[in-house]
Amino acid sequence: GTIDLLLGRKHRAEQLRSCLGIARCLIVSGNADTQPEVLSAMGKAASDLLQDELPLGPSVVSVMGGSTMVSVAECLTPALARNRELTFVPARGGIGEAPALQANTISAKMAEQTGSQYHSLFIPESISQEAIDSLRLDPGIRDVMKLIKSSNIVIHGIGEAIQMAKRRQMSPELIETLKKRQAVGEAFGYFFDKSGQIVYKLPRIGLQLEDLAEMDFVLAVAGGPQKAAAIQAYAKIAPKQTWLITDEGAADTILKK
Ligand code: BG6
Repeated sequence: GTIDLLLGRKHRAEQLRSCLGIARCLIVSGNADTQPEVLSAMGKAASDLLQDELPLGPSVVSVMGGSTMVSVAECLTPALARNRELTFVPARGGIGEAPALQANTISAKMAEQTGSQYHSLFIPESISQEAIDSLRLDPGIRDVMKLIKSSNIVIHGIGEAIQMAKRRQMSPELIETLKKRQAVGEAFGYFFDKSGQIVYKLPRIGLQLEDLAEMDFVLAVAGGPQKAAAIQAYAKIAPKQTWLITDEGAADTILKK
């Protein structure tokens, strides 16, 4: 019956959690690679989880981009901001994606959906280190940077490495390099191989991987068998307080190995 099904899924989620070595896993049914409605189901699960788990009072929430995050944003409601004062910021500067998938857009959307504040960080793609250094001196940018660094909550996606490199229009040479270095996944602009070794990092300003260690709550949302290797590899560098919302498609692939 339904109870057995629920218990079975709970057991599976615990198996996955222990396999990945993170704080908690939630598995929604289906396969995001072939069933578009699974993306919405993960978004809804994320919205429910945030409602239950986010601390009350003020929080600064950093968010990354991607289609999974769009789905999370669409599922948020004003209920999340009840007894909370949320400020949404992009976790990192622009990273060459289509506007609809950028962290800035998603942080603004989450703020709109919940009736909260947001701040944008407009940093163009392919900018030199010198330009970044001088932008850091700008008071407006410096304030947003400070907010990002002070964030206590992060919500992010995980991508398959080569797919993400192509979507970000990285050069064919760089894509070759990523393949040679056996990159399997990407998160926060970091590309890593299956052992969790960082093999390439996009030179961006904003949240760094090491900043995650101090967060109160880190939520990763990623599903579909195509992302199984990326999720598994990322778990090796993820902070221990990470929660993962995924689907059966990815969970089954990870647990089969
Ligand atoms: C990007 C993020 O926007 O989305 C990446 O910068 C993330 O860090 C990726 O891996 C995930 O995208 P999607 O569309 O598969 O959710």
